[in-house]
Amino acid sequence: MADDPFELFNDWFSEARMAEPNDPEAMALATAGADGQPSVRMVLLKGHGPGGFIFYTNGESAKAAQIAENPKAALLFHWKSLRRQVRVEGRVEAVSGADSDTYFASRARDSQLGAWASDQSRPLDSRATFEQRFRDAGARFAGGDVPRPPYWHGYRVVPDRIEFWSDRPHRLHERRLFTRAGDGWDEGLLYP
Ligand SMILES: Cc1cc2nc3c(=O)[nH]c(=O)nc-3n(C[C@H](O)[C@H](O)[C@H](O)COP(=O)(O)O)c2cc1C
Repeated sequence: MADDPFELFNDWFSEARMAEPNDPEAMALATAGADGQPSVRMVLLKGHGPGGFIFYTNGESAKAAQIAENPKAALLFHWKSLRRQVRVEGRVEAVSGADSDTYFASRARDSQLGAWASDQSRPLDSRATFEQRFRDAGARFAGGDVPRPPYWHGYRVVPDRIEFWSDRPHRLHERRLFTRAGDGWDEGLLYP
């Protein structure tokens, strides 16, 4: 059994990629701003390793405002086909502009244009306005690369706690909880 939570995450994520019919990289992201009201939504995992778990979003979104007020978050992966969940908690940092540029450049052109068209978390008067903004972005960058919008970038959740939960018969589920201890990790088993 792996005693490094990132190695264990890698193993489970690889299995999820083979088992899940849809979005094995989908994770729920929970944040709370200064008012303490938790908020949760799905995002996609776009990088992971000992440095943390990375997702990309609009830096003017509701989640970004909450992270600015309170740079802590929780993530939850639920791989239904495997009957497993992974819970992650920790602080949040911004991914560098250079790394965000690299990831943005790897996205499909329509997704890049969508990032320019979207006013994430703020209402637009209609779907037609959104589609017009998408066409405007296409016209604006016609014939060239689409640059990363200045407000669009990545965030990295740097975990203090990672819990691996797996289904066991008779509801005797297994939970392996890793908590950061200096440069390493302490591990405990929780039942159930
Ligand atoms: C499966 C799935 C994946 C998603 N991935 C992302 C993502 O990677 N980044 C993102 O900004 N929004 C993503 N969304 C949309 C968010 O859930 C959310 O609607 C949006 O980011 C606005 O959230 P906020 O208003 O709380 O900031 C995804 C939604 C689903 C259902």
